Amino acid sequence: MPRRKAAVIAAPRDTSSDEVALRALYRKDPSRILPNPLWKTIARLQSLECRFIADSTQATGVELREPGKLLIYGTRTQDPLKTASVKLDGVPTVWIHNDFVAPLAPWFDLKEAFFRLIHTGSELPLHVMVPGYAIREVDTTTELPLVATILHACYDTPTPGTDEIATWTKRPVFEPHAWLWVIDRKAKRPVALGIAETDRPTGEASLEWIQVLPAFRSLGLGTMLVRELVYRLEQKVPFTTVAGQVKNPCEPDHLFRRCGFAGRDVWWVLRR
Ligand SMILES: CC(C)(COP(=O)(O)OP(=O)(O)OC[C@H]1O[C@@H](n2cnc3c(N)ncnc32)[C@H](O)[C@@H]1OP(=O)(O)O)[C@@H](O)C(=O)NCCC(=O)NCCS
Repeated sequence: MPRRKAAVIAAPRDTSSDEVALRALYRKDPSRILPNPLWKTIARLQSLECRFIADSTQATGVELREPGKLLIYGTRTQDPLKTASVKLDGVPTVWIHNDFVAPLAPWFDLKEAFFRLIHTGSELPLHVMVPGYAIREVDTTTELPLVATILHACYDTPTPGTDEIATWTKRPVFEPHAWLWVIDRKAKRPVALGIAETDRPTGEASLEWIQVLPAFRSLGLGTMLVRELVYRLEQKVPFTTVAGQVKNPCEPDHLFRRCGFAGRDVWWVLRR
């Protein structure tokens, strides 16, 4: 009888010390250290090699590497990047802060920029209501197909279907009070949708999906939605982050800044 090959299952790596160090570094300057909310990186730490960059006293940055796939480089310093200090090794995708992109950019064909903004406390009146419209929480037990329909109607690119959206409600960062509709009172139907998540161990909330149906844009509904979300999130965590494409014709960074988000951090994704 042919012998079966024994499956080799690698023992999980202990990532706890990397997690502690990354958490401490991230809290000092979230938008310069990572291009995404911290929990998303922590969730895949098993597959990432972490190399911390330090000056004489403390860690100032981190290089995260998924061999053969991905490199993420973020640091609090603004010292010019020595190209030799980042080994590309043919890696197909790199995420890097705007301050360091120049020496690496020539090696990649596709380049896309993303702003990353942070909200650390309201000085603005957060509740703004547009007459004729109301805010209501999404019923995530029955309304996920409608969530999928609205997302589909708001973007030209493919959007997640109901099954994928259902997985978001199972994650530890799921925050049912931060899934909001804007309802057209007369037609009694949703015309805008906002979804945010909260990572309580980090103290971070993130706006994940913000959109208004095309026919209802520029009426102030995006502002109403984002301010309501921030108002709710501020009761739970000290800071909220948001990211989006710089080259979005809807200019969402303008909307977020109007709602109290700030920052100048831009991340580039470079692809071969
Ligand atoms: C981005 C989006 C949510 C804005 O919603 P909205 O209801 O139109 O926003 P508001 O009416 O509250 O307008 C907010 C500010 O943005 C400005 N704005 C709205 N649409 C704009 C556009 N197409 N270009 C430039 N500025 C725009 C408004 O003038 C307003 O600024 P002001 O008050 O200083 O004049 C909406 O365009 C949308 O759903 N886009 C598609 C999905 C998307 O890209 N989401 C963002 C992902 S990061």
